[in-house]
Amino acid sequence: MAVKTLDGAVLAGKRVLVRVDLNVPMQDGRISDTTRIERLLPTIREIAAMGAKVVLLSHFDRPRGKRVAEMSLRPLAQALAQALARPVGFCEDCIGPAAVAAVAAMADGDVMLLENTRFYAGEEANAPEFVAALAALGDAYVNDAFSAAHRAHASTEGLAHHLPSYAGRLMQRELEALEAALGNPKRPVLAIVGGSKVSTKLDLLGNLCRRVDYLVIGGAMANTFLAAQGRNVGKSLQEVALHATANEITATAAAAHCRIVLPVDAVVAREFRANPPTRIVKAGEMEADEMILDVGPESTAHIGRLMAEANTLVWNGPLGAFETPPFDQGTTDLARAAAALTRAGRLLSVAGGGDTVSALRHAGVTEAFSYVSTAGGAFLEWLEGKTLPGVAALAQG
Ligand code: 3PG
Repeated sequence: MAVKTLDGAVLAGKRVLVRVDLNVPMQDGRISDTTRIERLLPTIREIAAMGAKVVLLSHFDRPRGKRVAEMSLRPLAQALAQALARPVGFCEDCIGPAAVAAVAAMADGDVMLLENTRFYAGEEANAPEFVAALAALGDAYVNDAFSAAHRAHASTEGLAHHLPSYAGRLMQRELEALEAALGNPKRPVLAIVGGSKVSTKLDLLGNLCRRVDYLVIGGAMANTFLAAQGRNVGKSLQEVALHATANEITATAAAAHCRIVLPVDAVVAREFRANPPTRIVKAGEMEADEMILDVGPESTAHIGRLMAEANTLVWNGPLGAFETPPFDQGTTDLARAAAALTRAGRLLSVAGGGDTVSALRHAGVTEAFSYVSTAGGAFLEWLEGKTLPGVAALAQG
């Protein structure tokens, strides 16, 4: 999908509405992960350096059309100022007289953040009058919020139809990485999909098994596939109602010449807690009171060999209960193997989705992957093969 980037954009002296995603994780009122902020800085710096007025728009959390004090973006203006090492203004409204006056008072090169767009119901409804009120504040629109591009909201979609529109550098990088991984990839392509529920990833599996050469299924999702084949999974987490669906996915994959790779062995325990007694069993050979909590070493070695043969890796979801030791072993070993292949220039590796990023961070390899997406839901919808409205609007704009 061809979108206009900032290359060649002439924005000097203009008021540029830049949609960013400052929906950062918070713990006890503090930002617990600043990745999204850091990734936005190049776009903000570039537009400010052009001599434009940078007016930042974002949502935070889900206030559902009401002003909720704890969901104010005010603390984010401070965090941005610190990260940019320059002042960042803040306006307590995102439309109306206060916003108009605050933007009018900006000098070229200034940066200002407007209050949470979701304080207005018109944001999520993509209401024309709200879009118009936002559009009145700018001469151009830059969307740098790939992670919110699956939402057809006023500030992520509507604005692109009103103002000259561009993709910001983060949006551009995300789209380029995703295109390299699935749009036009160097084959063979290996996808790793983990997590606990097949039911949340049906569309994703359906799309991937038509587009990749190997589809590794891990996590509790694999239990459903194993059980659907008649294997004993003891008291492991699984979705009995989805056995038929799992078999259909396997058949679709076979017809598309995609090999589904399930664990051949597993780490099992009788209870789910940190460091319980464990044993390694062949897939299907376990006691009724045992549960699978991680892939076994034979599976890890097998997937590692496939990875070494692949040219492209797409990863979403951990392979075991990685937050509870020692069930992080499989995910960590394979994340490190992917990182080593990427460093050696032998693999293009793209990963995304909430738990995946935590798992890669836990393995200490986030920096070594070709690209780790900052997106959660948007990354998943993209893996499902869906058109993201925020991206589509930029392409038409
Ligand atoms: C995210 O954190 O995934 C995005 O900011 C989108 O947030 P939302 O799911 O509340 O729309």
